[in-house]
Amino acid sequence: MDHSAPGRSESESGPPPLDLREGMHTARSLRRFRPDPVSDEVLARCLEAATWAPSGSNAQPWRFVVLRSPEVRAILGPAFREGWDWVRSAFYGTDERPAADDNSREARLTRSMLHLVDNFEDVPVYVLFCCRVYGYVPEFLEGGSIFPAIQNFLLAARAEGLGTVPSTWFTFAEDKLRDQVGIPEGWRIASLVSVGWPVGKHGPVRRRPLHKVTSLNTWDTPFITSEPAT
Ligand SMILES: Cc1cc2nc3c(=O)[nH]c(=O)nc-3n(C[C@H](O)[C@H](O)[C@H](O)COP(=O)(O)O)c2cc1C
Repeated sequence: MDHSAPGRSESESGPPPLDLREGMHTARSLRRFRPDPVSDEVLARCLEAATWAPSGSNAQPWRFVVLRSPEVRAILGPAFREGWDWVRSAFYGTDERPAADDNSREARLTRSMLHLVDNFEDVPVYVLFCCRVYGYVPEFLEGGSIFPAIQNFLLAARAEGLGTVPSTWFTFAEDKLRDQVGIPEGWRIASLVSVGWPVGKHGPVRRRPLHKVTSLNTWDTPFITSEPAT
């Protein structure tokens, strides 16, 4: 991707335009990254897009912490591996790795998750999305004021050609992470997003079809019976 079009500085230039629907449709999670650094300029463009997100009363209750330090990496790597062990045994009843000849979708997803947890310290950069929690409404609703910002970030990163994956396994070392970063009282961590130039390609997401997840006026009345033409 060429960010150095003649007559434009890097900070002025952006990625080539990407159709919004195409970007949304192909922003799947990528968990394998090349070691190449992600510049502050590119990251800032993605974070600026995060600030364009809506939030309740336009409160913009967010702080985005770019994490590059070895101290943070040393906390996150073991936390992710602990999270993995827990998820595998709690949800799948096993922490075994897929067989080398297993090419099923589940095995491929498991391998990609494993690659991330095994190499977590080597992720080029992480962004911690924090949300001010006021306590006026249930926390579930307060989360609604940070997740649109995360999605804007993921889409802007997609447009740059970056790979990303949100994650929650930081919860296994949340106290240590909060201390290291200095997160004040009243702020919650919503997500830790890993970011890097991907080894694999962006590609279409796999989702349940629209007609299975939509209704008209009442829960059991279909909104559509066939899928829209894309
Ligand atoms: C709230 C949230 C938490 C997630 N946590 C993790 C995680 O801890 N580890 C991980 O590898 N992926 C995580 N993901 C990524 C999902 O696994 C992924 O979005 C989902 O499987 C759909 O796949 P796709 O993004 O490739 O379409 C998370 C996504 C969301 C939205």
